Amino acid sequence: MVRVSVVCCLKLLLLLALGGSGGAGVPAYVDAPGGALWINVLHETLKHGLAPKSWTDYLHLTVGGTLSNAGVSGQAFRQGPQVSNVNQLEIVTGRGDVVTCSPEENSDLFYGALGGLGQFGIITRARIALEPAPKMVRWIRVLYSDFASFTEDQEALISAEETFDYIEGFVIINRTGILNNWRTSFKPQDPVQASHFQSDGKVLYCLEMTKNFDPDEADIMEQEVGVLLSRLRYIQSTLFHTDVTYLEFLDRVHSSELKLRAQGLWEVPHPWLNLLIPRSTIHRFAREVFGKILKDSNNGPILLYPVNRSKWDNRTSVVIPEEEIFYLVGFLSSAPSASGHGSVEHAVSLNDKIVDFCDKAGVGMKQYLAPYTTQQQWKAHFGARWETFERRKHMYDPLAILAPGQRIFPKASLPMSS
Ligand SMILES: Cc1cc2nc3c(=O)[nH]c(=O)nc-3n(C[C@H](O)[C@H](O)[C@H](O)COP(=O)(O)OP(=O)(O)OC[C@H]3O[C@@H](n4cnc5c(N)ncnc54)[C@H](O)[C@@H]3O)c2cc1C
Ligand SMILES: *[C@@H]1O[C@H](CO)[C@@H](O)[C@H](O)[C@H]1NC(C)=O
Ligand SMILES: *[C@@H]1O[C@H](CO)[C@@H](O)[C@H](O)[C@H]1NC(C)=O
Ligand SMILES: *[C@@H]1O[C@H](CO)[C@@H](O)[C@H](O)[C@H]1NC(C)=O
Repeated sequence: MVRVSVVCCLKLLLLLALGGSGGAGVPAYVDAPGGALWINVLHETLKHGLAPKSWTDYLHLTVGGTLSNAGVSGQAFRQGPQVSNVNQLEIVTGRGDVVTCSPEENSDLFYGALGGLGQFGIITRARIALEPAPKMVRWIRVLYSDFASFTEDQEALISAEETFDYIEGFVIINRTGILNNWRTSFKPQDPVQASHFQSDGKVLYCLEMTKNFDPDEADIMEQEVGVLLSRLRYIQSTLFHTDVTYLEFLDRVHSSELKLRAQGLWEVPHPWLNLLIPRSTIHRFAREVFGKILKDSNNGPILLYPVNRSKWDNRTSVVIPEEEIFYLVGFLSSAPSASGHGSVEHAVSLNDKIVDFCDKAGVGMKQYLAPYTTQQQWKAHFGARWETFERRKHMYDPLAILAPGQRIFPKASLPMSS
């Protein structure tokens, strides 16, 4: 066992213990404090040539915070969300008990706390599964103008045995003729052709993927990537790629954060909407939302990528659609101005229209990071899982003292049961 220290978000020196070796069949793990930022967990594990397997797009978030939701990014299609990559938790329950739990020990609390929105206890330590850390990453973007080809290629890639290590995608709507500079910092493979490429007011879909590699074996990676790309139907002149270190890739959103902060555009309201949409209705959803409701994507990225339900453990508290393949669709809007197109009101009214459409058209959508404000809404959100969620609340936090801000369990409505 190696012990190393990590500076956590509170700038306190905390202990982070590494176990296992990562090799020869001994699964490696790290014991991280619940309040540690993922970026610091990464820095510490990289010193040992190891890294967690599943991520969020942004790493300056806490371990306990993302595990209380799900933790989803482009690795989830293969590794599952972050909640599928935890071996053990230490939790201080609402009763004040300090409980160590895992799939074998106090499993009801373990699964309840994963995606549990902080309702049953405070996660004070998490044992996170590790793998040997990749050294370099080939980071690729290609564009599609046809939604069906885009999603068919995404689905083929997440289902394939041999595939990329990270698969995401985003939607670019350019009906008003202004477009985010989507390819900043990317090297086009064919700069001449690429400079002629423009979207002409169409909706475009960007497929984003990575392949990890060791620089000593770059030629093998080139070959594998070539084969994978040859099966895809993107617009040929739009292939962009760049090679970066694993750390640079994982911490990519922080680089954007620094640029936005310098422009005063980070500390602004972010009326985000994150939806999980079943595969069977994603085309109807896209036609309505990208074809009619939204006029542009200038207020922030719109993520769209599929995952496989089999990588999500249904004993956790995470709520997902009832279908084998579902899409994560994230409308990550910024609202930098007080009125007009860049205002909170504008973004919220578009979000409302999208949610309204989903409800009326029976899309089978579930919200991720749901902002519900009444117990009735939460009951509808949890559906058949509500009974279990409520039972766990009575069991682990009978006085409903934890995370009241989620507005799931009002303090007064709970009887003093024990
Ligand atoms: C810029 C940005 C990018 C993001 N990108 C992604 C992404 O790519 N994928 C993704 O899945 N999510 C993403 N998220 C959402 C993120 O997973 C949640 O916001 C999560 O709550 C963040 O953790 P935090 O440390 O900021 O939590 P906080 O905001 O501090 O807490 C939020 C809630 O989580 C619960 N909680 C927090 N810590 C604990 C704990 N130790 N024990 C129990 N409950 C706790 C509580 O209910 C609390 O009210 C992103 C968020 C931001 C701000
Ligand atoms: C989803 O995962 C399961 C289990 O690995 C697999 O059998 C199934 O084929 C996958 N579905 C798709 C559409 O890839
Ligand atoms: C967006 O559309 C306008 C015309 O509608 C076009 O001039 C512009 O080049 C497009 N932007 C990109 C990057 O395709
Ligand atoms: C979880 O999935 C298993 C197998 O698919 C199923 O038998 C079980 O009923 C599910 N449990 C819940 C709580 O949905």
